[in-house]
Amino acid sequence: HPPSFQMGESSGLRPANCRAKGGAPGFKVAILGAAGGIGQPLALLMKINPLVSVLHLYDVVNTPGVTADISHMDTGAVVRGFLGAQQLENALAGMDLVIIPAGVPRKPGMTRDDLFNINAGIVRTLCEGIAKSCPNAIVNLISNPVNSTVPIAAEVFKKAGTYDPKRLLGVTMLDVVRANTFVAEVLGLDPREVDVPVVGGHSGVTILPLLSQVKPPCSFTPKEIEYLTDRIQNGGTEVVEAKAGTGSATLSMAYAAVKFADACLRGLRGDSGIVECSFVASQVTELPFFASKVRLGRTGAEEIFPLGPLNEYERAGLEKAKKELATSIQKGVSFIRK
Ligand code: NAD
Ligand code: LMR
Repeated sequence: HPPSFQMGESSGLRPANCRAKGGAPGFKVAILGAAGGIGQPLALLMKINPLVSVLHLYDVVNTPGVTADISHMDTGAVVRGFLGAQQLENALAGMDLVIIPAGVPRKPGMTRDDLFNINAGIVRTLCEGIAKSCPNAIVNLISNPVNSTVPIAAEVFKKAGTYDPKRLLGVTMLDVVRANTFVAEVLGLDPREVDVPVVGGHSGVTILPLLSQVKPPCSFTPKEIEYLTDRIQNGGTEVVEAKAGTGSATLSMAYAAVKFADACLRGLRGDSGIVECSFVASQVTELPFFASKVRLGRTGAEEIFPLGPLNEYERAGLEKAKKELATSIQKGVSFIRK
């Protein structure tokens, strides 16, 4: 392949001044890790998103094929592929939003923290690229362990002098998607009618569903609370075990990533009242990062909402979550500062 390859812009058969101006108005979005289990369906769904005008697909393998394939879809976004580290800079130049699902997934028996050794370095390199080529882009970080990779990204951006806490968002949307689904099953409702805030972080006990704040208002028995909390906290492991060594959640994750990215783009466009849960730099607790509801606007996470009233069960869960989160955050910070 040539050093960079582009698809979906023009056949080149007619001179540029004779061609109708094609291309939709909208935002420029890059996916880093675009050839992976999450990356491919995420690229598919972003190609359908009417808010996206340009879609850059970057990976260290297989982007020519994925780009050729996706670029044949007759939707507005122009698709360009980028392969390997020497094309990272071009993949990122001018991007409004960068979504990062690059890195290795879990196998049965592993924790998300077991991915740290490989994924920390990948996230560092990619964030160094962002600091250089698109320091003002909104970053949606999916790579695990999110509780550590978000602090890693923050430290990289601080070092580069480009850090804006509002623009760095850890993606915890899959926890909310699962919580909505499982709560709807218990209540016998359509999951689209259910809204469950999930706060804390994205791993085990740090995933804290606030079942006392479910909309529409409802109540649960202690048995239901135990069942739902356990299922939401271990939803990722449920998929890892079902996939039996072939990976972790990819399809529901791509759906959740697009739901979150679309909210970020609507915020960038200036829509009002866009609120989603995300793992961000926060003063909601004494920890430097925490997931809670945030309002997304033209500059990213413009407002971070407090947790609201918690019941005794949730307060106990919060203490457990904070303990594990503190360790994971510190591990990420030390990886860059050491
Ligand atoms: P995968 O192995 O199928 O795909 C990962 C892709 O990343 C591969 O195509 C690989 O080539 C690419 N990659 C590796 N190093 C890279 C680099 N330096 N630059 C660019 N790309 C690189 O894995 P997956 O199932 O897509 O999962 C990806 C990550 O997302 C994992 O860390 C997983 O744990 C995480 N994940 C997070 C959530 C969440 O809720 N935040 C949910 C599911 C999975
Ligand atoms: C998930 O919640 O599905 C992801 O974090 C992947 C995993 O390892 O469980």
